[in-house]
Amino acid sequence: MTQDKVRVPDFARMKANRQPITMLTAYDFPFARIFDNCGIDALLVGDSLAMVIRGEDSTLAVTIDEVIYHTRAVARARRRALVVADMPFLSYQVSPEEALRNAGRLVKEGGAEAVKLEGGIAIAETVRRIAAVDIPVMGHIGLTPQSIHRMGGHRVQGRKSGRAPGCRERLLEDAAALEAAGAFAIVIEGVPPSLGREISHSVNVPTIGIGAGPDCDGQVLVMHDMLGLGESGAPRFAKPFANLWNDAAAAATAYVREVREHAFPAPEHCYREARRS
Ligand code: KIV
Repeated sequence: MTQDKVRVPDFARMKANRQPITMLTAYDFPFARIFDNCGIDALLVGDSLAMVIRGEDSTLAVTIDEVIYHTRAVARARRRALVVADMPFLSYQVSPEEALRNAGRLVKEGGAEAVKLEGGIAIAETVRRIAAVDIPVMGHIGLTPQSIHRMGGHRVQGRKSGRAPGCRERLLEDAAALEAAGAFAIVIEGVPPSLGREISHSVNVPTIGIGAGPDCDGQVLVMHDMLGLGESGAPRFAKPFANLWNDAAAAATAYVREVREHAFPAPEHCYREARRS
């Protein structure tokens, strides 16, 4: 594992060298520092924070100020990883000017080194405007959670053939449009593995998959899914590498018991009394 700071141009080099790119979401200092210490390449301050931190049913309610708040905490923890901040719903769709201002806030106030936007052809001009002022842009296509109402839920995309949003050929065109607009990487979410592979081979910029099969140039998971930190278990595409929900529940249960039994605090948890002179 290299200790060198990961920067945007490293992503292209990693794709060229067939070196898988690793990304995890993070929303606060301790987890960002743990992941950074473990050699993660990128930390994504995802608008998934609506669901995993705030307990909402979708990502739609998150504001740019909330993403800035969480990005600042993650950026303070960063030593090596690239910090990418999500642009939340309606922070970039109204006009390219507003998008540019909000992307700038994520960099200036949050400390992000790149921003991520959902969509393809429909937001290509906005991507071009943001990238033109040297704010690196990561695209996000396929199952785009901000489109939950159009998709009718968090549903796998790209199974149907066609040029309508979410269809197979359209997703290939979306990826090409993002690359042409200057995106330095593209997240592909919730598509069959064959499409994850086809898109990854069709563009020169690296792709980072989540539920898009093994043939993307990198992988990203929501940290709560990776750590088993959800009440109802991880989705099919995610592998829990730990079971922190159960571990935290066991710790809290032991704490409650020890306080009730007067076993905590023990003498070793108490301050020394003042010396009598
Ligand atoms: O918000 C998020 O966590 C994301 C990942 C699922 C890629 O966009």
